[in-house]
Parts: sequence; structure tokens; C-alpha cells
Amino acid sequence: MEHVHTHASLGVTRRLRRLRRSEAMRSLVRETRLSPEMMVLPLFVCEGEGVRREVPSMPGVFNLSVDEAVRETAAAGQDGINSVLLFGLPDQKDDIGSAAYDPEAPVQSAIRAIKRELPGVLVMTDVCLCEYTDHGHCGIVIDQEIANDPTVDQLVRAAVSHAAAGADVVAPSDMMDGRVGAIRHALDERGFENTALMSYAAKYCSAFYGPFRDAAASAPAFGDRRSHQMDPANGREALREVEQDIHEGADIIMIKPAVTYLDVIARVKDTFGYPTAAYHVSGEYAMLKAAARNGWLDERRAMLETLTAIHRAGADIIITYYAREAARALA
Ligand code: PBG
Repeated sequence: MEHVHTHASLGVTRRLRRLRRSEAMRSLVRETRLSPEMMVLPLFVCEGEGVRREVPSMPGVFNLSVDEAVRETAAAGQDGINSVLLFGLPDQKDDIGSAAYDPEAPVQSAIRAIKRELPGVLVMTDVCLCEYTDHGHCGIVIDQEIANDPTVDQLVRAAVSHAAAGADVVAPSDMMDGRVGAIRHALDERGFENTALMSYAAKYCSAFYGPFRDAAASAPAFGDRRSHQMDPANGREALREVEQDIHEGADIIMIKPAVTYLDVIARVKDTFGYPTAAYHVSGEYAMLKAAARNGWLDERRAMLETLTAIHRAGADIIITYYAREAARALA
């Protein structure tokens, strides 16, 4: 064009827009590609049969009985999602969270059912006590404090029972010190040396878990989780948490939440180069759903942009309630 040859424009030698002119060109030079293989779908498994109860603050997310969880897993497989992360919603809770290691509880039953009916699916389990304690805390409370070491003993029992039921990956989300090493040791001692361990290594004390606590009925009855989950202001400390969990035997390390901690994902990935997961949590999902329902955002674009950003930051694995929708959008 005429003006390109004027004196004023001679300095324009790098025309970065050349690579953005067509979709064929853009997709040729695209640096980050999402695929369903990297996504994990969380499922909330409850007691009963034929139960499929939508979580009010999480449209499209359900409390599912074991039979329905199997159906949901199969449907996710049709969409291209081959990994699920199970959370349990027991009917009975007590002050030590003993339902967490009941072999007949929803999670253990769901593991067996999914493994029996859909053997190709990768089954991960969340290991924590907050869904199992009547006070909603992640551990055993002694004198108003979460007692670290007695809690670790309970987490070990839960992780071993998940492995015994056939879980491929156990994922402790409690943030107690020393739990990764204790779980690894106990698994190995009992012959579960092939069960992988994904640690919620840098889990922040976040406002964005709100809808999850509705879904799992796990809001603490008093106090908060600041004595064990990380302060959102700290980035360098995340590197120490991750280093410790790798040292104790974690196979995969996770950062959680995702979008508000993209810098942490990037630093962890650059520092350790380890298989890195990010959890796009309930509140991050609920925000997009709410805005989309009001017509304030194009949901499909906002979803894909968000998940792309998480992957671009360095996450190899994305745990997201959007897994099925994203897989369908990518198909
Ligand atoms: C603890 C756990 C929580 C989440 C995953 N595991 C809740 C918490 O720490 O309070 C949150 C996940 C989400 O918000 O989507 N078992």
C-alpha cells in the first residue's frame, strides 16, 4: 500500500501482524494448544442411587450417587475426558473424619465401580478430612487447633483405602506438613507402590473455594483454614512447599487456585520442570457461569481463554469443572 513506502514508515521493518492475518497462519504459529487429554473432571460422589442433584452455585455440576458418577464418567469419556478426580459426600460425619477411610463409602465404591465398568479411565481421589468431619475442618481439632501429626495418620488411612479400592492417583489436599512422605511410605509398605501421588503442594487460603464448600458441605463450623493453607501474598513460599513435596515423593505437584496464581504456576514450572497441575477451582468456574448467564461474557471464549492462560503459564494438567464443555468446544 502507498503509505508503506513513505519515508515516515521506513522504520517499520518488523511487521508482527503478518502472522495474524488468517486463521490458517494463526494456528500455524500458535504456541499453546489445549487438548482434552490434559483435563481432569472433578466429581462429587454421594450416597444413594439415581441421585443427580445440581449444586446451586455451580451450574452443570452435580452431587452424584455412585451409579450416576459412573454414567457421568462414561459421558465425559465420550467428550474426550479420560481422567476424573473424586470427592466424597458421606451421610455420616464425626469429629475424626472416619468415613474418609470406610471401604464402603461413596468414593471407595465409586473407584471400584468406575474401574470395573470403565477400566481405561484414570481415577484420582481427593484426600482430605474436611468433607468427613462434623466441624468441617481438614483435620483433627485439639484445643481449637488442627493437630498436624494425628491428622496425617488419618490422611494415610484415607489414601491407603483409596489405593486399595483401585485409585490410580491419590491427591492430598489438606496442606498438613509431612503428609506426602507419610502417605508414600504407607502405600509402599502395603504394596501400592504403583499408586501415584499428586500433592496439592501450593494450595492457597482462597475465597474462590466458596461454591465447593456448598457442593461438599465442608465449610468450617468455626474459624478458617489460614493455619494450614497458604497466604495469597506469598510466592517464594510456594517454591518451598513444592520442593518439600517433591522431596517427600510427590509424582505430580499442583497449584491451586489457578487464575489468580498464574505467576506461581510459571515459577514452579520453570524452577522444577516437574509434572505440574493447576486446579481451576469452583469460584473461578462460578464467576464465569454467573457472568455468562447474565449475558455479560461470551462463555465459550472466556472459558477457552481462561484454560489457555492456565496452560500457557505452565500447567501440564488442568483440573476443571469445565472439562467436558471445553473438550466439546475443542472437538
Ligand atoms: C479440600 C478441598 C477443597 C477444594 C479441593 N479440595 C476445599 C477447601 O480447601 O476448602 C476446593 C476445590 C474447589 O473450590 O473447586 N478437600
